[in-house]
Amino acid sequence: VANLKCTFIAIKLDGVQLGLVGEIIELFKQKGSRLVAMKFLWASGEHLKQYYIDLKDRPFFPGLVKYMNSGLVVAMVREGLNVETNPADSKRGTIHGDFCIQVGRNSIHGSDSVKSAEKEISLWFKPEELVDYKSCAHDWVYE
Ligand code: PPS
Repeated sequence: VANLKCTFIAIKLDGVQLGLVGEIIELFKQKGSRLVAMKFLWASGEHLKQYYIDLKDRPFFPGLVKYMNSGLVVAMVREGLNVETNPADSKRGTIHGDFCIQVGRNSIHGSDSVKSAEKEISLWFKPEELVDYKSCAHDWVYE
């Protein structure tokens, strides 16, 4: 299938602590997308400053980095057709709408474009951590 794209998804520490990991993975699975990589980690301050570099002049930047450096994150890469790179995506909206109240505790991050997905994936994963395999569901989901 041409045009399969990867996106970066992070279940942030509030999502982890609120016990949403399984539910969120399940929601993404229902999209028919393939899980390419996943890890559970405590991101370093340096890594987070780099990840949020575009927000460095925002007043909430120091608090955001400190908060994200205070617990565990589940980082994932998923591949699919029109996977959750579109901010108007209903699943992502539903996760935010259903599980979150404030932007600083929004439980999950999904890349907002193909370009930012590429940047975010390379920041969070080494190339060898991205696993190449064919999902047995592939031929039942895609023509
Ligand atoms: S922007 O640039 O204002 O549109 O920012 P946005 O894309 O909405 O959010 C980018 C990330 O910054 C976090 N954020 C905040 N954290 C704490 N306080 C405030 N006020 C705040 N505003 C935005 C938001 O959760 C996003 O985190 P990630 O991890 O990228 O989803």
